[in-house]
Amino acid sequence: MSTPFIHKPVMVAEVIHYLNPAPGKVFVDATVGGGGHSYHLLQVEPNIRLYAIDCDSTSLQVAIRNLSAWRDRINFIHANFVSLHQLVTESVDGILFDLGLSSLQLEDPQRGFSFRHDGPLDMRFDTSVPFTAYNLITQSSYWKLAQIIKQYGEERYANVIAKIIRQRRPETTSELYTAIIDALPQNYRNKSKVAARVFQALRINGWLYYPITRWKIVL
Ligand SMILES: C[S@@+](CC[C@H](N)C(=O)[O-])C[C@H]1O[C@@H](n2cnc3c(N)ncnc32)[C@H](O)[C@@H]1O
Repeated sequence: MSTPFIHKPVMVAEVIHYLNPAPGKVFVDATVGGGGHSYHLLQVEPNIRLYAIDCDSTSLQVAIRNLSAWRDRINFIHANFVSLHQLVTESVDGILFDLGLSSLQLEDPQRGFSFRHDGPLDMRFDTSVPFTAYNLITQSSYWKLAQIIKQYGEERYANVIAKIIRQRRPETTSELYTAIIDALPQNYRNKSKVAARVFQALRINGWLYYPITRWKIVL
């Protein structure tokens, strides 16, 4: 079998140290992504059982491929980990949450998560949820949008940014980026940092639209 391509996960030595895998133990990887941490865990100790959860079915398919050598030891579950108590009903020896975005998601322009790549203004973790960042900015009032940018982006130019976004109704990541930059004073430094905070705010707010109980065992 050829070695799968695995992005090097963060703090892999620490994760293995604290999970302390041993034969017969059961673990949950609540944010399996492309399977990086689980891959290293299973390499250290293949005789464990694992629940591998992700809300992003595209990432889960990558994990299924990358972890295929241990397929009979893993339950792959497409779900929001908020429903963990329903998904895993036995007692487990450790749970890993590696929160945030994966490079699989950030680097795919079609997912619309980053202004470093031009793509549709999507930003959905779970593409089966019919509500994109574009829907959010076109369906929210100016006040609501400003509040989202203030609350989840902690951005002091939230009001003026919300105003220009509502006027322009950007459809792509680069149109949104340009709108944010144009909203800022000309001599403002670090405009990209502001854009990063606004993108973050829209991503975080997107979670409010996610079903927390719907879930599906994939394998
Ligand atoms: C930083 S990545 C994980 C990378 C993974 N540890 C690896 O080594 O490949 C975070 C993952 O968490 C997933 N995620 C974020 N929020 C989630 C939630 N509420 N429920 C399930 N998965 C979630 C994302 O889809 C993403 O794949």
